[in-house]
Amino acid sequence: MKGIILAGGSGTRLHPITLSVSKQLMPVYDKPMIYYPLSTLISAGIREILIISTPKDLPLFERLLGDGSQLGCSFSYAAQPEPRGLAQAFLIGESFIGKDSVALILGDNIFYGTGLQATLQDCINPEGGIIFAYKVHDPERYGVVSFDASGKATSLEEKPKNPASKFAVPGIYFYDNAVVSIAKKINPSLRGELEITDINKVYLQKQKLQVQELDSGTAWLDTGTFTSLMQAAQFVQVLQERQGVRIGAIEDVALQMGYINQKQHGSLTSPFIKSGYAK
Ligand code: DAU
Repeated sequence: MKGIILAGGSGTRLHPITLSVSKQLMPVYDKPMIYYPLSTLISAGIREILIISTPKDLPLFERLLGDGSQLGCSFSYAAQPEPRGLAQAFLIGESFIGKDSVALILGDNIFYGTGLQATLQDCINPEGGIIFAYKVHDPERYGVVSFDASGKATSLEEKPKNPASKFAVPGIYFYDNAVVSIAKKINPSLRGELEITDINKVYLQKQKLQVQELDSGTAWLDTGTFTSLMQAAQFVQVLQERQGVRIGAIEDVALQMGYINQKQHGSLTSPFIKSGYAK
């Protein structure tokens, strides 16, 4: 299964800090933001990853992450000249996806939970689409999914004024190869974007959409405002320092997945002794 990280957009909600640098390169405690979604994909077992960003920011991501071989992965890069919606990722990534299934993760979505890795690994090569539902107090800010009494997903709406449920759809999605042809058929929304929610609606109509609830043991962190960005950094700091876990450390995840060995891990992290990251 291929993976795409969408890391473009204009970052206006974080101006002026994102005036000259991409939001997904902002620090979240001790790592650039993109390390978190990247480690999520790698931990799911996805090694071929396309990073999409603006033409201006793409060289910075390339400088940071290289071709991925140092992590036993393969990274490629593609530009999205204008932010025309999340679903455009499948059009930009068409030749990269080829005949494979594909997972999309948003470059500003941070996930953490002990059972999460197993949950995501079960989503590899799905038949149809798999998305998640996460209970939040402000669903109107997100894609919202509602369920019938038997727990079956019945509707999806993008940022509804009056949400039918409290379940937001987080920014990680798994699809079979049909997603490319579906993305070609949907029309831009009123805000001029190809909406991921419209893709999910097509899968739902075809009865090919699985919606799995992410329980409250999983953290899905927002990085969209000054406050939530700071809270995400504090969350990572507290867990790392008090519990000794590492969140978003791409070198550790590659080692744990067996994509690199201990020696390679050592040579990747030893340049970061001074900052404390290597510790
Ligand atoms: O975070 C999950 C939510 O993400 C979902 O619940 C929604 O259904 C989905 O539409 C999306 O909502 P947002 O309005 O929060 O998406 P936003 O426009 O903020 O974009 C999310 C990230 O993707 C952001 O880091 C910028 C990047 N992006 C966005 C667009 C529209 C791109 O790289 N290219 C784009 O064209």
